[in-house]
Amino acid sequence: MENISCSILYVLFFLIALLLYYHSSLKKSKWRNLQKAKLPPGSMGWPYIGETLQLYSQDPSVLFANKQKRYGDIFKTHILGYPCVMLASPEAARFVLLTYAHLFKPTYPKSKERLIGPSALFFYQGNYHSRLRKLVQSSLAPEALRKLIPDIEDLAISSLELWAEKNQTINTFRVMKKFSFEVGILALFGQLDAKYKEELNKNYSIVEKGYNSFPTNLPGTAYYKAMVARRKLNQILSEIISERKEKKTVEKDLLCHLLNFKDEKGKNLTEYQIADNVIGVLFAAQDTTASALTWILKYLSDDQKLLETVKAEQRTIYESNGGKKPLTWAQTRNMSLTYRVILESLRMSSIISFTFREAVVDVEYDGYLIPKGWKVMPLFRNIHHNSEFFADPENFDASRFEVAPKPNTYMPFGNGAHACPGNELAKLEMLILIHHLITKFRWEVEVSKGGVQYSPFPIPQHGLPSRFWKETRSQRDP
Ligand code: HEM
Ligand SMILES: *[C@@H]1O[C@H](CO)[C@@H](O)[C@H](O)[C@H]1NC(C)=O
Ligand SMILES: *[C@@H]1O[C@H](CO)[C@@H](O)[C@H](O)[C@H]1NC(C)=O
Ligand SMILES: *[C@@H]1O[C@H](CO)[C@@H](O)[C@H](O)[C@H]1NC(C)=O
Ligand SMILES: *[C@@H]1O[C@H](CO)[C@@H](O)[C@H](O)[C@H]1NC(C)=O
Repeated sequence: MENISCSILYVLFFLIALLLYYHSSLKKSKWRNLQKAKLPPGSMGWPYIGETLQLYSQDPSVLFANKQKRYGDIFKTHILGYPCVMLASPEAARFVLLTYAHLFKPTYPKSKERLIGPSALFFYQGNYHSRLRKLVQSSLAPEALRKLIPDIEDLAISSLELWAEKNQTINTFRVMKKFSFEVGILALFGQLDAKYKEELNKNYSIVEKGYNSFPTNLPGTAYYKAMVARRKLNQILSEIISERKEKKTVEKDLLCHLLNFKDEKGKNLTEYQIADNVIGVLFAAQDTTASALTWILKYLSDDQKLLETVKAEQRTIYESNGGKKPLTWAQTRNMSLTYRVILESLRMSSIISFTFREAVVDVEYDGYLIPKGWKVMPLFRNIHHNSEFFADPENFDASRFEVAPKPNTYMPFGNGAHACPGNELAKLEMLILIHHLITKFRWEVEVSKGGVQYSPFPIPQHGLPSRFWKETRSQRDP
C-alpha cells in the first residue's frame, strides 16, 4: 500500500517535472524567437548611475561622437537611470521619429513635466496630440506669420536701440532671450498689456531657474519656488482669458485658437490645459531661438568676409525700401544668403543635439532589439557633424546649402510627428533681427574663444559678451 502511494507520488512528481520542463522550454523558445535580434553593442557603465557621470563630466557631443566611432551608428548605454539606445544614422532617426513614430512615445522626467504643464502637447501621442498640434501649426503657419512682420520688426528695432544705447558690453544670449520671449508672446496673445507681459516674464524666469534644479518640494529650494511661480502663471493666464472673453475680440493668435478648440465630442479645453500649452510653447520658443541667434552673431563676427556679403544682401533690400518702409513677406523670402547662414548656423550649433523617446513595445531595427521601456535617442548633432553627409563638417560653410542636404540628414527642427511647428516663426524672427542689426548697427564680440556652455542648450561661452552701437552715416557710406 505504502509502496503504491509512493510510486504514484513518484509518477505525479515526474509528470509535474515534465510539465514544468515542457512549459519552460516552450517559454524559452518563444523568448528565443523574440530575442533573435540582439541588443546593440555598447557599454552600460556602472550599475544604476550608468554613464551619467561621463555625460556630465565632459561635453556630451564628444562622448557621443567617441561612442559612435567605437560602436557604429547604433549603440546602447545607460544614462540618468535608464537603459538607452542611441541612434546616429539618418535612417534610424527617421524610423523612430517618422515611419514608426507610434512605437515610440515622448518621454520627459515627471518633475520637468510638472513645471512646464502636464497637458502640454509635446508629452502626448495620438489623438490629443494631433488635434492640438494642428491648431498650433495653423497659428504658426506662413499665412498667420505674414501679419506678424510689422510687429516683429518693431520689436527687433526697439530691442537693438536698447542694446546700443550705452555702447556697453552685454550678454548677447540674455538679451536675445528677451527678444524671443517678446516674439513668443506676440504669437501667443497678439498685443498684450505691458502689465501682463511683465508679470509673465518675471514669474516665468523663476520657473526656468527651477527647471534644471533638483526636484524637491522643500520650501526655499529653486524647484519649490518654480512650482509656486508656475501656479502664479496659471492665475495670470486665467485673468488674460477672462478679459479676452469679456472683450469678445476676434484675434487670430494661438490663445484664440486654444479657446476655440473642440475635441471629437465637442468638448473644449480646460483653463489648465490651455495654460499648459501656452507655457509649453513659450518654453519651446524662447531659449532655442535665442541660442540660435547668439550663435549666428558669433559665426558672423568670426568671419568678416561672410559678414560683408550678408551686409551687401541686406543693404540691397534696405535701400529698395528707402530705409523706411517695413519689410514685406516677399523680401523676407528673398534673403537667400542670410537664410543659408541661418541653416549652417543651426547645423554647426545643433542646439537640440538629440531628443528622447521610449519604446512602447519590443522593437526590432536593423537586426537589433530595442526592448520595451528602453529610451531611444536620435542624435541630431552626430548626424549634422558626419562628414559622410556634410563635407568638412567642423568648417562653417553657408554655401553648402546651395544644394539641398541628403534626405533626413538635416534635422535642426526634428522630424515627423513632433517636428517643430515653430520653425517658420523662428526663421522669420531671425531674418528680421539680422536685417536691422546689419543695416543699422555694429557689434563687437568681447572674447570669442569658441568655448561652449550648456544652458541646457549649447550657447557660446558666457552668452557671447558683446557691444552694440548704432552706425553713423559716415560709417555706412564710406
Ligand atoms: C531655432 C529655434 C528652434 C529650434 C532649433 C527648435 C527645435 C525643435 C525641435 C528639434 C523639436 C522636436 C523635439 C522632439 O522631436 O523631441 C521642436 C518641437 C517643438 N517646437 Fe521648436 N524649435 C525652435 C523654435 C520654436 C519656436 C519659435 C516655437 C513656437 C513659437 C517652437 C515650438 C515648438 C513646439 C510647440 C514643439 C513641440 C511639437 C510637438 O511635440 O508636436 N519652437 N522644436
Ligand atoms: C562704441 O564703441 C566703439 C568701440 O570702442 C566705437 O568704435 C564706436 O564709435 C562707439 N560708438 C558710439 C556711438 O559711441
Ligand atoms: C507673478 O505674478 C503675480 C500675479 O499672479 C504678480 O503679482 C507677481 O508680481 C509676479 N511675480 C513676480 C516675481 O513678478
Ligand atoms: C468650456 O465650456 C464650459 C461649458 O460650456 C465653460 O463653462 C468653460 O468656461 C469653457 N472653458 C473655457 C476655457 O473656455
Ligand atoms: C529679390 O532679390 C533680387 C536681387 O537681389 C531682386 O532683383 C528681386 O527683385 C527681389 N525680389 C523681390 C520679390 O523682392
